Amino acid sequence: MAIPTRVIASPARGVECVKKRAKRLHFTAFSRDAEQVATASGRVNLMGDHVDYAGGFVLPMALSLHTAVAASRADHDCAVSESSDDRAWTRYAFGVLAQLRDAGLSIPPLSLAVASDVPVGAGLSSSAALEVAVARVALAVVGAALEPRALALLCQRAEHIGAGVPCGIMDQWCVTHAQPHQSIMLDCARLTSTLITLPPTLVIDIVDSDERHALRDGGYAARRADVEAAARALRVPLLAQLPRARWHEIDALAPQLARRARHVVHESARVHEMCAALAANDLARVGALFFESHQSLRDDFDVSTHALDAIVERARSEGVLGARMTGGGFGGCVIIVRRA
Ligand code: GLA
Repeated sequence: MAIPTRVIASPARGVECVKKRAKRLHFTAFSRDAEQVATASGRVNLMGDHVDYAGGFVLPMALSLHTAVAASRADHDCAVSESSDDRAWTRYAFGVLAQLRDAGLSIPPLSLAVASDVPVGAGLSSSAALEVAVARVALAVVGAALEPRALALLCQRAEHIGAGVPCGIMDQWCVTHAQPHQSIMLDCARLTSTLITLPPTLVIDIVDSDERHALRDGGYAARRADVEAAARALRVPLLAQLPRARWHEIDALAPQLARRARHVVHESARVHEMCAALAANDLARVGALFFESHQSLRDDFDVSTHALDAIVERARSEGVLGARMTGGGFGGCVIIVRRA
């Protein structure tokens, strides 16, 4: 069977182009010009998947793929997208408007038009990009602003309440704090982050398996429930905070919880190892950590798929430094690192 290997994120795509598309769609759908347009980028996670809601460390970076939302005042909230007839995505957009209003901001009813280069359900944070772009454009309409941290937390709440996905904070934090060409090491328990510069000799490709997930489908919530059950059994508030001296206690858990817990503590530790390897320009170690992470997500966390595994194995056979699935899993993308 041929493995689809569409490399989607090497070339930078223009943010101006996606803004123009959103404005044009707004005009076509609502027969008037947009008052404001705002954008937000997708993200790719280099290391640390399924650890944010366990209070661990993550290392995502912004992508040069963007979502743009054009908006104008209206009689009632309405939203159109250039790419989707399925209305499920509007729960994310309206969820953000509801959270802004709950926070006391007097956001009027809005007409929203969405254009995006971030593929949906591909593990590249199309949801957070949409949420943050909607929040930014709504704030711009009323001449208000929120700090990146408050914006990230508000959008995460919108995803929990509006869309019913119990996500962690990684995506919204990355999208609101990202700087070009740098990754962000985020401590998800303390909500403090540091920018990490990537070596210029490291090339990152993102390969889309073309398999799509919907985090609403339940696998994501089930993993989060396992992680929380493991934390309760080990009597720690957040699983990633289990001290290394107590890691052996994981072996005494029920087998499935033990595998979930093993993934979480090692994956969070791998983020620190990655940062050290990046600082030392030790690209061989960077690559080895990628393969270790994939194995853990596949065997202990059960969120990989045959298509993702096949792409990782093919990349390995072609001699890349490392490859791993990225994001929530159940489909989506593989991130591959190689030497320039
Ligand atoms: C999704 C969630 C994030 C995170 C990742 C997995 O993207 O939105 O909070 O849990 O999955 O690392």
